[in-house]
Amino acid sequence: MPKNSSLLAKDRVQELFLAEYGSMPAVIARSPGRVNLIGEHTDYNEGFVLPIAVPFDTAIAASPMNSSTIRVVSEGFGEATFDLNGDPSLSPFWARYLHGVGRYLQQAGQTITGWTGYIATDIPVGANLSSSAALEIAAGLIFSSVSNIKADMKQLAYAGQYVENSILGLPSGIMDQMTCAFAERDSALLIDCRDLSFNPVKLPEGAAIVVMDTGTRRELAGTEYAKRRRACEVTARELGFQSLRDATHSDLNRLDLRNGSNLKRAQHVITENIRVKKAVEAIQSQDIVELGRLMTESHASLKNNYEVSGPALDEIVKNALNSQYCFGARMTGGGFAGCAIALVKSGKVDQFCSEILANFKSPSSQPAEAPTMVYPVRASAGASLIL
Ligand code: GLA
Repeated sequence: MPKNSSLLAKDRVQELFLAEYGSMPAVIARSPGRVNLIGEHTDYNEGFVLPIAVPFDTAIAASPMNSSTIRVVSEGFGEATFDLNGDPSLSPFWARYLHGVGRYLQQAGQTITGWTGYIATDIPVGANLSSSAALEIAAGLIFSSVSNIKADMKQLAYAGQYVENSILGLPSGIMDQMTCAFAERDSALLIDCRDLSFNPVKLPEGAAIVVMDTGTRRELAGTEYAKRRRACEVTARELGFQSLRDATHSDLNRLDLRNGSNLKRAQHVITENIRVKKAVEAIQSQDIVELGRLMTESHASLKNNYEVSGPALDEIVKNALNSQYCFGARMTGGGFAGCAIALVKSGKVDQFCSEILANFKSPSSQPAEAPTMVYPVRASAGASLIL
């Protein structure tokens, strides 16, 4: 998803650093964004998710500083300077992601040093492709490297979630950061969000994943996301469970049915966890038709029961399903706006993409802020140091 340059972020960030600071960086870290194949809004219910990393990165080039100061330039957002010992919530909004990761590592007892850096990204911001988790994980790798700490990827995933939950006030789960940290090429990552164990699941031949960006954008913070999480927690407590992960359909009969919307939220979580397991079986038996069916069913559940889809996402999913080359389609990530995904017959991807570009128009109730884009994606590897 390169912007204004033929070079990918991981390649151009070195040149940008050199132009800014007049020397080569000591270290470069990259982290991909993600799309989730299935298992949506299950992570904070200690359930199952099945994401892939996409081949678009956020990259940071950096050199250590002999102080607690971070000076960093973002290609998109400009320059920020802050002291690691200062209050992260007083840093410029985008720099809080970096400052917050540093704060988490400090609180975990790590001695970290400051750095000068440059950030470039190919991940569109606000499109539900986890640009923020990518920034957090790349920053974690930079902190580890310049401070000579062996990077503990799970700790970096927790650091990213800490930034979202405690610095930015978004009560998100940990799927995005785990995916950025641990994804494997050509595989989806089955994550059990109760104990954070994970297993790569090799993707089948015969189908490709196409990311469809509606061009609509919506911030998750301060929206329905927190309400959904709260509703799930209330229902779990009412049922006497630690989380909805433990609930079954028959448990729902015990609920006070006057709260119909909480019941619908729980129905989504319970059915979605079952769908993730079925999707893994479908992948393992190369049953692409079944995988597509489960994805489409997941979208319907997110739309009707969890109510986190949106007019543009519904429209692009409808367009995708109208194509004879599409096995299934659904919104991905938090929802409301941004990207959906489709499972498309290999060899027919170009035709499929042309159909979407020709047919999709964002509904007037939800105007697009960016052009419609379609990206066939290959599942990519998680974050790494490349210098
Ligand atoms: C966002 C959050 C994740 C997850 C998804 C929905 O991406 O950051 O933790 O809850 O929404 O599955």
